[in-house]
Amino acid sequence: AMHHHPKELHLASNGPLGKFDNAQIQRGFLVYEKVCASCHSLNLVSFRDLQQIGYNEAEVKKIAKDWPIKQPVQDPKAGTWGERDNLASDRFPKVYYPGTGTPPDLSLMTKARHDGAAYVYSLLTGYDEKPSAEALKHFPEFAKPPEGMYFNPYFANLNISMPPPLTGDDQVTYSDGTRATKDQMAKDVAAFLVWTAEPTMQRRHSAGLAVVLFLLIATGLAYGAYLTVWRGVK
Ligand code: HEM
Repeated sequence: AMHHHPKELHLASNGPLGKFDNAQIQRGFLVYEKVCASCHSLNLVSFRDLQQIGYNEAEVKKIAKDWPIKQPVQDPKAGTWGERDNLASDRFPKVYYPGTGTPPDLSLMTKARHDGAAYVYSLLTGYDEKPSAEALKHFPEFAKPPEGMYFNPYFANLNISMPPPLTGDDQVTYSDGTRATKDQMAKDVAAFLVWTAEPTMQRRHSAGLAVVLFLLIATGLAYGAYLTVWRGVK
């Protein structure tokens, strides 16, 4: 393949003992909300799932109610379609995209692509890179992508129909004081999309730890029983 391997990305959730960094995931949600949500849906996630990353019930209700894309509803009698505000129990609504290409749902994107979080991070920060001289020698057409396409060395086809979503620093304002550089926003939204793809990860990790502790204790008890049973037997 001609495309680049993703850049390194270190997230708190990496590895078997990884933990979600809720502050980072909340920043990533803000990037999703302000930048990605106009094109990409998140249809496997419901608003109330946001409580898992530290929003309270009232905050979730408000996020749902204020969400600019509404839920479609059909009038049961007339059969006509209208819309209503989102509820905490709703999934993030589908998005209508009139442009070139089809923005995929992002719920499972970090699972769907190899090295998914690093891939998302690299894709978002990769638009500045130009095709290598070597690549241009073989594929001169990459010097000028077709109308409505953008060169991105991390995308499998090298030309992608997604316009660069992160165009500079401070596109969003983080409430925790973190400087919203392009690089930071890309990392944060990647961390957020790891969480959307695996909302039960944290629970599984702590269950795993409980299993290990149980086995240690059970082993100790079994050994104690063994000593007791064989005590005095020569
Ligand atoms: C594709 C992420 C914002 C339009 C994608 C893909 C990802 C992604 C991971 C899939 C690439 C692949 O198939 O491997 C994001 C993120 C965004 C964002 C994290 C916000 C930071 C936007 C915006 C638009 C958009 C604002 C519309 C103006 C598209 C389109 C595709 C796409 C049309 C399909 C590209 C193709 O297959 O050629 N995006 N995106 N995205 N995105 Fe975005």
